[in-house]
Order: sequence, then structure tokens, then C-alpha cells
Amino acid sequence: MLKVINVVGARPNFMKVAPIVAAMKRRPTQFHPLVVHTGQHYDAAMSASFFHDLELPQPDTHLGVGSASHAAQTAAVMERFEPVVLAEKPDWVLVVGDVNSTLACALVCVKLGIKVAHVEAGLRSRDRTMPEEINRLLTDQIADLLLTPSPDADANLKAEGIPPERIRFVGNVMIDSLLQNLERARKSQIRSVLSVTDAEYGVLTLHRPSNVDQPDTFTRILAALETITEKLPVIFPVHPRTRKTIAALGLSNRVAAMRNLRLIDALGYLDFLSLYSNARLVLTDSGGIQEETTALGIPCLTLRENTERPITVELGTNVIVGTDTTRIVTAATSALNGSAKQTARQPPLWDGHASERILDALEEADHRD
Ligand code: UD1
Repeated sequence: MLKVINVVGARPNFMKVAPIVAAMKRRPTQFHPLVVHTGQHYDAAMSASFFHDLELPQPDTHLGVGSASHAAQTAAVMERFEPVVLAEKPDWVLVVGDVNSTLACALVCVKLGIKVAHVEAGLRSRDRTMPEEINRLLTDQIADLLLTPSPDADANLKAEGIPPERIRFVGNVMIDSLLQNLERARKSQIRSVLSVTDAEYGVLTLHRPSNVDQPDTFTRILAALETITEKLPVIFPVHPRTRKTIAALGLSNRVAAMRNLRLIDALGYLDFLSLYSNARLVLTDSGGIQEETTALGIPCLTLRENTERPITVELGTNVIVGTDTTRIVTAATSALNGSAKQTARQPPLWDGHASERILDALEEADHRD
């Protein structure tokens, strides 16, 4: 029986951990799963609603860390996670993704000699100004088992000198959540609440510091939206970081002046799935949404200069458009004319069974050690 602490911290973690914990509960003689929430995200809309929507069991331990600078947040997670690991003595700690909680918990474990598995290992944007890129690079260097979502991730890890026996291609676990919840998302009322049941609309998400904390960049994106929303209404569920910076950068009036840009509060998992899965076009700077739109064949424009998920461009619906106003408008126009990206394919092992393969890999790695 393997005792595994599954770490969640921020919004993009919940949909990766939920199917893994559910799979562990289906194998009760082999796995004893615990859930630790660092509290990196804490608003109901950023955390509790995901536990509910994804039927993720309430955390066994909540570290209550909250927001702070990167150093303070990472340090607080480490300080509060260490006693939990010492008390629970797990066989493995499983971390997912690339947020500060991911690196902080992996670092605690490697110092204590507790084995760490990293789900979504090997993704690289090669942009070291992104905090997530640093979290990815360092977590992969210290984790014992690297579970990858796509073949490019395996190649990245091997190029960094990671021994192949530590790497296992398991596919994309976020797609497990997506496929398991499509039917439930159909019951969401969000589109009728927003009165877009029969309408054509786009969906926008923005929260990267490189976009929303930088006045020049944010302004270029808004200028593009001023043109795009003349043709297509766009719904914009606003991340708390972005809500603050719209006010702090003095952009509230400009945003409010766009009649066809509808700002709404950040949505839970099922409502957001219902919304974007019926959209004509998605514009985003999120990593996960690039993957979810590829899985569902929804056209996606990524408002960044790079991606750590190149397979969504090679096989999927994703186009990297950067933050230049004209480029964004041109790409949106070709997506709406249907002249872009007609031949989306599913990346290998994005099949809804990654969580089972993750459990198999954990057992195998545990026997090997
Ligand atoms: C974090 C992750 C990012 C991920 C994103 C998803 C890191 C380095 N960044 O970025 O990779 O894509 O989550 O959302 O780990 N806030 C609230 N309520 C909350 C959480 C945050 O109001 O529940 C506000 C706080 O003012 C906070 C700001 O949002 O300072 C940013 O939150 P933080 O967790 O620092 O970074 P994110 O931008 O959310």
C-alpha cells in the first residue's frame, strides 16, 4: 500500500489532482491518498468551487498560505508543509503543474529523502522571465519520477540530462477531468444566465503578469479587443489579479467603454467548460486552456510570445499570436472566417486515462527503488 500526499495549491492544480485521487480511491488496496492544500489560492471562485465541481475530497490538511511575494509564498509553503510530511511519512508526494506550491513542496521532500512524482513534467517555454518556467525547471531537476503529457516533454528532459528511467510518458491528466465532466457541464446554466445560448461569442482569459501587469502590453491587447468585439461579443471571466491591475493601471474606463466585452467574475470548472466549449473563439494567456481547446477542437489564440505546450500548435487548434494589436486582430479575423487551422488532431494519450497510467508508473517506480 502506497501512502501518497497529493498537493494542490492554485486553480490549475485542482483539475489535475482530482482524477488522480479518484483513481487512487478506486484501488484502495494499493493506494492511500491524502490531499494537502497549500492555500496559494483561497477565494471561493479560485478554490472551493473547484473542489465541489470536480468532486475532489476536502483536503486532509490546509496550510492556509495565501498571497505574498514569490519568495515569501514559496517559503511559507515550505515551512508549513515540512511538519506535515514529517508527521505523515508518505511513500510518495505527488505535485502537479508549475505553480509556486509545486516547487516548494518538491523541495521540502527532496531534502527529507521523500520521493516526489511530478505530473506535467518536461514542459518548457524557454522563457525564464516566466515564474512558472523556473518552477518547472527546478521541480524536474529534483523529482524522482517525471510524468510527462506529451513527447516533446520527454525530449526536453532528456536534453537536460535527466536519466530516461526517471521519465514516463503518461499523457495529459487534465483531459481526464475534461472528458469526465463534459456531460455534467451540459447542465450548467451559465450560458442562459449570460443570454448567449444561441449566440456566437468569444471567450477571453488574461492573468499572466507579463500581460496584465505591464501597461503597454495590456493596452495593445485592449486595442485589439476594441476591433474584435465589433464583430464578435467577447465574455471575459476576470482573474482577481487582472481585476486589480485594470483598476491600478487606470484602464477601467477603456474596458467599460467596450460594449461587447462583458466582464464577469472568475467561473468555476463546469460553468467555464460550458462557456468555452460552445465558443466560436477563445483568446487566452493560460497554459491549460491551450490544451483544453485543442482537446475540444475550439479555435484558440494564445496572447503570448511562446508556449510550453507546442503540441497544441503542431497538432491542435492553438495559434501563438503574441501581443501585437494587428497580429491579434488578423488572427482573430482568419479564425472567424474559418480560414485558419482546419485540421486539428488529438495529441497522443490525451484520452481520459492518464490518471490510471500515473498510478501504474508510481507502483512500478516504487518497486524499482
Ligand atoms: C498563479 C500561478 C500561475 C497560474 C495562476 C492561475 C505561480 C507563480 N503562479 O498565478 O502559474 O497560472 O495562479 O490562476 O504560482 N488572488 C486573489 N484570490 C485568490 C488568489 C489570488 O485575490 O484566491 C489575487 C491576489 O491579489 C494575488 C494575485 O491574485 O496577489 C495573484 O495571485 P498569485 O497566486 O500570486 O498568482 P496568480 O497570478 O494567481
